[in-house]
Amino acid sequence: SLSLLVLLLNFDLREIAVAAEGYSRHDFPADFVFGSGTSAYQVEGAANEDGRMPSIFDTFTRSENWQGGNGDVASDEYHKYKEDVQLMVDTGLDAYRFSISWPRLIPNGSGSVNRKGLEYYNNLINELVNHGIQPHVTLLHSDLPQVLEDKYGGFLDRQIVEDFTAYADVCFKEFGDRVSHWTTVNEGNIFIMGGYDLGQTPPQRCSAPFGFNCQGGNSTTEPYIVAHNMLLAHASIVSLYKKKYQATQHGLVGFNLYSFNPVPLTNSTEDVMAARRANDFFIGWFMDPLMYGDYPEIMKNTAGKRIPSFTKDESKLLKGSFDFIAINHYFSVHVKDNPSSLKMELRDYVSDMAAAMIFSTDGAPPGGLPFMPWGLQEVLEYFKQVYGNPPIYIQENGQRTDRNSSINDTSRVEYLQGFIGGLLDAIRNGSNARGYFTWSFLDVFELLDGNASSFGLYFVDLNYPNLPRYPKLSQHWYSKFLKGKSIPL
Ligand code: NOJ
Repeated sequence: SLSLLVLLLNFDLREIAVAAEGYSRHDFPADFVFGSGTSAYQVEGAANEDGRMPSIFDTFTRSENWQGGNGDVASDEYHKYKEDVQLMVDTGLDAYRFSISWPRLIPNGSGSVNRKGLEYYNNLINELVNHGIQPHVTLLHSDLPQVLEDKYGGFLDRQIVEDFTAYADVCFKEFGDRVSHWTTVNEGNIFIMGGYDLGQTPPQRCSAPFGFNCQGGNSTTEPYIVAHNMLLAHASIVSLYKKKYQATQHGLVGFNLYSFNPVPLTNSTEDVMAARRANDFFIGWFMDPLMYGDYPEIMKNTAGKRIPSFTKDESKLLKGSFDFIAINHYFSVHVKDNPSSLKMELRDYVSDMAAAMIFSTDGAPPGGLPFMPWGLQEVLEYFKQVYGNPPIYIQENGQRTDRNSSINDTSRVEYLQGFIGGLLDAIRNGSNARGYFTWSFLDVFELLDGNASSFGLYFVDLNYPNLPRYPKLSQHWYSKFLKGKSIPL
């Protein structure tokens, strides 16, 4: 059986035979943070226990066309957090990135706090802190309480600003004495692209019969409204933190963006412009408001009235409303200009790419560019040149494989080794990167693949009810690196 195979392999992980660039952890700044991460719905399980209510992620997995299982059990970290923290200690992580489940903490979205939810996150945080591992906490990772979606359309309504801020307030108040790194939203841009334009991810809205599972919506306007409310909620949370908690808790608050690295397919002006436009529509959409208090000119010009505007006060609140920017980076894409596109909808801008998207790595779609670890360098260079080199945490980077492929994951080792090497080069070149987290610490329930794919440093065997964890080769490699051993050539 697979588990037996895993066990056998497990005893055979003595030598890590990979071609290495000769770097070690000591080449990084002493206070640089290395960690790994997961998110609540993807790892916790216990979805129907102790008062947790459904999120839009639960709803997604229960929709008609979805066949990929659900996160009801996931990796069961809810019950196995002590064991998992021990594995983090074994691995040598400085930090663990996880998210809080809003519908576990405040089951009705707003109002009373679930004592059991408080207890769980207090236990997890204490376990981490007691073992010297820093908790880096995301407030919202795809799992908005369904009740808020039902009540007023979630991020489509301005009410989300108040409710999200109230939820953040509970988190800061209850956990902020032990948590110094907060991220408000995970992948704001992808959440919107997937959930309100393509309609493929929660809450599955789009106007065209486009994405599978699409549940209605209006993709010409909704993405812009959602981004607007999300930015205002973020700014409101940051402002709350500064006023009420900063002086005593001394923490940092950031926003997370998915950033692929768009590479012009040719050096024609059209393709170069298309790659820039892709960045403006995907990164600038959030970074410009966070830096300057308004959307990029090109967005305002092209999206016209569909893009809401900020009042003077809102602009002021937004401007500079972050201590760090978090990015998730997996691969680079080729971008080719798409002149025939009518460019009515968000996806048309990003689909300048979609038309010619060639994934470079991530193990996923075939063909295209070779493995491109310097793509991360290019992303960091972009933030340095265009946005004044803000402090950056790379909160996700990693490789997808099939869940049931070998735990002898040499390709993931090569991937991590390449990207961490690229990161080192970027830092040497002046990037303000402060930390790096692999995705994921252990195998988790994956948004579009369910249990079919695996990103973990640990394999989780779903065939056994106690969900045993087995270290992969990549765990050994990362651990060796984290413990400061130089990596063999
Ligand atoms: C991005 C998301 O934040 C995470 O939830 C997901 O599992 C990984 N990327 C891999 O697709």
